[in-house]
Amino acid sequence: DLPSYVKIVEVGPRDGLQNEKEIVPTSVKVQLIHRLVAAGLPVVEATSFVSPKWVPQLADAKDVMAAVRNLEQSRLPVLVPNLKGFNAAMEAGAREVAIFAAASESFAKANTNCTIEESINRFREVCDAAKEQDIPVRGYVSCVVGCPIEGPISPDKVAYVARELHRLGCYEISLGDTIGIGNPGTVRRMLDAVLHEVPVSNLAVHLHNTYGQALANIVVALQMGINVVDSSVAGLGGCPYAKGATGNVATEEVLYLLEGLGIKTGVDIARVVAAGKFICEHIGRISGSKVGMPLGSS
Ligand code: HMG
Ligand code: MG
Repeated sequence: DLPSYVKIVEVGPRDGLQNEKEIVPTSVKVQLIHRLVAAGLPVVEATSFVSPKWVPQLADAKDVMAAVRNLEQSRLPVLVPNLKGFNAAMEAGAREVAIFAAASESFAKANTNCTIEESINRFREVCDAAKEQDIPVRGYVSCVVGCPIEGPISPDKVAYVARELHRLGCYEISLGDTIGIGNPGTVRRMLDAVLHEVPVSNLAVHLHNTYGQALANIVVALQMGINVVDSSVAGLGGCPYAKGATGNVATEEVLYLLEGLGIKTGVDIARVVAAGKFICEHIGRISGSKVGMPLGSS
């Protein structure tokens, strides 16, 4: 049975923009977040409190948060890699954070300059501080199917890292196909392994769409009982430390799929399409979404 409701976690302002070379003006980021919130998206990942040397595009995290922190309709989590980022996020008014681990040693090193175990220790500090302040923590696992450096990743490794994040207190673990190579076969095997370690109600999928399999993979995840899906407006996205990987599955396409399946999301697809047009015009890109409206117009 498919779920009757799916929570969409919009990651466009963070994952979608972090890989853009040209710095996007803070006011454009803020307008994008406003539009996505107004579209009814329940969660809009706003920015990252990471090292500006590692991700220059999001160096304005504090200013972005200052402009959106009072928006009440949506949750606005931000990425934090360590306690320093967590403290900066709290100071800027964030009320939810996300930590990000990887199922691949090489990727943990490339993305966060530490081993998987070291990253889990850093995240324990973040989770302890978050608990004290009643701040919910979401956890990502990257490279759940394959790694840009190591190649295929064993489902057991993914299950192990997901379990560790769950034990640290993450209320939701988002499984990231960072390089977008998963297909319904490999994704199902990965999810089978993770479901032995983490309850289905605590899982989400975060699928980049490099090989065009993301929608098919989402159907598999729904069939397995997962009802939280990450996506990015206009299919923007990519990780600066995963060369060659393209954007996330487009929010517009996910909404079209779910609507067709009779699954509620509470999101206004036309307003998401408009937000996609808005950001694509500003960054000079063609939308990565094949779904636009009205049908037949560009
Ligand atoms: P490091 O260089 O090992 O850190 O980086 P360090 O502790 O040695 O500090 C180096 C400098 O960074 C110092 O400044 C620190 O103060 C500063 P300096 O003394 O040189 O002037 N620093 C910070 N500044 C601001 N905020 C912070 C912070 N921490 C240290 N939080 C570090 C380690 C983790 C910081 C770095 O590797 C980093 O920031 N990595 C982030 C990379 C990133 O954001 N990647 C993209 C997000 S993950 C993703 O996209 C995948 C996902 O979408 C899921 C999927 O698709 O699979 C989530
Ligand atoms: Mg991602």
